[in-house]
Amino acid sequence: MTTPRKLFVKTYGCQMNVYDSERMAEALAPSGYVTTDRAEDADLILLNTCHIREKAAEKVYSELGRLKPLKAANPDLRIGVAGCVAQAEGAEIVARAPSVDLVVGPQSYHRLPELEARARQGARAIDTDFPAEDKFDALPARPKAARGPTAFLTVQEGCDKFCAFCVVPYTRGAEASRPPARILAEARDLVDRGVREITLLGQNVNAYHGAGVDGEWSLARLTAALGGIEGLARIRYTTSHPCDMTDDLIAAHGEGGKLMPYLHLPVQSGSDRILKAMNRRHTAEEYLRVIDRLRAARPDILLSSDFIVGFPGETEADFADTLALIEAVGFGQSYSFKYSPRPGTPAAERAEVAAEVADDRLQRLQALLRTQEQAAQAAMVGREVTVLFEKPGRLPGQMVGKSEYLHAVHAMAPGVTPGTLCRVRITESAAHSLGGEVVAE
Ligand code: 5AD
Ligand code: SF4
Repeated sequence: MTTPRKLFVKTYGCQMNVYDSERMAEALAPSGYVTTDRAEDADLILLNTCHIREKAAEKVYSELGRLKPLKAANPDLRIGVAGCVAQAEGAEIVARAPSVDLVVGPQSYHRLPELEARARQGARAIDTDFPAEDKFDALPARPKAARGPTAFLTVQEGCDKFCAFCVVPYTRGAEASRPPARILAEARDLVDRGVREITLLGQNVNAYHGAGVDGEWSLARLTAALGGIEGLARIRYTTSHPCDMTDDLIAAHGEGGKLMPYLHLPVQSGSDRILKAMNRRHTAEEYLRVIDRLRAARPDILLSSDFIVGFPGETEADFADTLALIEAVGFGQSYSFKYSPRPGTPAAERAEVAAEVADDRLQRLQALLRTQEQAAQAAMVGREVTVLFEKPGRLPGQMVGKSEYLHAVHAMAPGVTPGTLCRVRITESAAHSLGGEVVAE
């Protein structure tokens, strides 16, 4: 028997890349690869990259620099760049980083075995096409290895929204939904392997419109069908666009099924002028109405959002509108970024806000968001939640997991195995997690 080759995958960016990294490892298994978490041991290193902000892309080039000595020490080592930087800058990577043997865009992962074979023979293999075939159809069925209690499942990819700041429509291509039958089959397989919570992924996941045998399925219909899978306890989805929060999806949150009371709904700005300049296709008021409808359906829903500060043209008054929107909603969790011009996007042509101004706004925004996050956590103290325990904690007998609201929760739970759902009474709120006591299994 030949010794297996070792694959090290480093994942940057969003959850979709986490999912893609798993699938890349599966695609390379028939070529004799097993995964390792030590880059030094690897025969193939893949960097699964993110291009969403400048910093994310620059990290790839620094990592390639750090990997150089490994290549010098092991002439058989092959290095590949995958993901959105590969898609956006394939030719530049090849020119700038001679250590790179393989470049593969996010739509071509099913071609990895062939690209790897070419790279192994000494060629530099590049594939950044948007092929007609679906990469997920062509990928091998997931093998039956046991898994942890939570998993990602990509149901939709790409985006047609063209927000003025965003590279996704260029790197991930046009919006495309996977057929419901394939998603249901993959979900059943994950559940057979121990998964109890599935997060459905898509760049614009609530624009999902998969072709079923009986016509087009919405995300609400897909979550309802997934809810019928025995053994699956929880369903989440991310990331959504406010304009695609349809009535059926909002209603699904109120039905008390397996859909969790948590929603990540990026708004980016609270200023109508900036929302228009961003091509977000909705006003601040329309966003607030969506939130009202969600809360009417599911009063305890925890809301999360993304914000960009310092978008070209943003004035202090626009920024004040963003703070006002945050005050009006009360977010339980948030991600905030300083605007970063991305080559090829419309906003990259516009005059930038001074860096000090943007830095100052980011600090003020984050201070407000932190206060809201802490308030949302503090409000959990004294309440009972259901926790899906995922792994042991730092202390003997302690387990950690997530509540329905996606809060990290730790509790003493000796003998409780990962994948168990327990009722937990929250007793304390720490910086980034909650502590509690198990009241029932
Ligand atoms: N600059 C800063 N933040 C950005 N995002 C996307 N593109 C940019 C950019 N050019 C943020 C948005 C998006 C999140 C995934 O990343 O807030 O929702
Ligand atoms: Fe990018 Fe999201 Fe806008 Fe699509 S909807 S262009 S992925 S920010």
